[in-house]
Amino acid sequence: MSSFKYKQKKLFVENISVFNLAKRNRTPFYLYSGLQIKENYSNFIKNFKNINPLICFSVKSNSNPYILRFLGKLGSGADVVSYGELLKALKSGIKPNKIVFSGIGKSEEELKLAIKKKILLINIESESEALLINKISKKMNKNTSIGLRLNPDISVKTHRKISTGKAEDKFGLSKKDILSLCKKINNMKNLRLNALSVHIGSQILSDNPYKKSLKIIADIIKKTKIKFKFIDLGGGFGISYRKKEKKIKLKNYSNLVNNFKKKFNCKIIFEPGRSIIGNTGILVSKVQYIKKGRNKSFIILDAGMNDFMRPALYDAFHNIIPITKTNKKIKGSVEFVGPICETTCKFGRYKNYQRLNENNYVAISNVGAYGFVLSSNYNTRPLLAEIFVRKNKNKTIRKRQNLLELIKV
Ligand code: LLP
Repeated sequence: MSSFKYKQKKLFVENISVFNLAKRNRTPFYLYSGLQIKENYSNFIKNFKNINPLICFSVKSNSNPYILRFLGKLGSGADVVSYGELLKALKSGIKPNKIVFSGIGKSEEELKLAIKKKILLINIESESEALLINKISKKMNKNTSIGLRLNPDISVKTHRKISTGKAEDKFGLSKKDILSLCKKINNMKNLRLNALSVHIGSQILSDNPYKKSLKIIADIIKKTKIKFKFIDLGGGFGISYRKKEKKIKLKNYSNLVNNFKKKFNCKIIFEPGRSIIGNTGILVSKVQYIKKGRNKSFIILDAGMNDFMRPALYDAFHNIIPITKTNKKIKGSVEFVGPICETTCKFGRYKNYQRLNENNYVAISNVGAYGFVLSSNYNTRPLLAEIFVRKNKNKTIRKRQNLLELIKV
């Protein structure tokens, strides 16, 4: 997180002191760096330079409209999975011809909107969905551009709860089903089969599974002899949540995709979420109380699992860093926990953590992706504010939810 740095023991985001922001804004709040988003986006482009892909940012990872607009201005399109996400992307200025729509359970209402707006691709995940889109398109007198989402039956070394490309996962169509659907689609006159798409999971740190699915796609193209205009290779590129975590080597994969593109003469689409936005955000929280337990101290934060779900949901590790550093240490173990009445409302255990006092601030790191978007009103707590920093300026890009509105009956 090169945009989050200590200067004289104080954490800064770009040119702004996080401590000063924490003093002026009610904690907890999400805090993002615009520079980091820019850097990630241009690194992504650099990695795939020869390919000149269309990047469709995965809106589910962070759907703040200001951030979508910011990414849109950088050139990004959007990968959406619901009516709400599609509308948000459009409202944020992203053009329909840069939007792809995935999801196994798209409703008629969602499909109608996507068809009406003429988005780039609706990625179909079942034969029934193809039939429904054809029917609606006919009624609306439209010719709809679709892709077929492949489930390549590949196991991916990631958290079992975020793998999507195994045969037992609910996503996509098997190779066999795609081969037979390609034939049937010939008779669905209001569909244009423009793409194959694949997304095998998230937080993937090896390029191996990607290589494997590329092979399967090549095989489908050879067997069907269809000239697909687009190949949508999904997202899933992992980031380092821990210092020692190795990074995914994109150069090698990029070369493979480049050869693939040349061979099949198609436009490549990627749908990255986490790799663009994950390390751009922190969750700033105050130490409410410190309480001695039997063999550890509990550092009780004002942020709860409702504000940030990943540790409770996936046992995810997110390094907790102090806003002001000191050399003094707390002896023994500490556990950072939140106020929610659930045992899983905890954020991590550390040994020899630096000294903290009540009312000090800390930041939970790498929360830009699947952070705010997964938060809830559990325990009747309002959704948090989101603040965006660019150079010397900060801007509230989402106000903290109004509590009175929340408790209205
Ligand atoms: N495309 C499709 C069709 C997807 O389902 C996803 C994520 C992406 C793209 C973006 O994947 P990314 O580049 O962000 O890995 N809540 C979980 C992650 C769920 C991912 C769901 N699909 C987490 O917090 O780890």
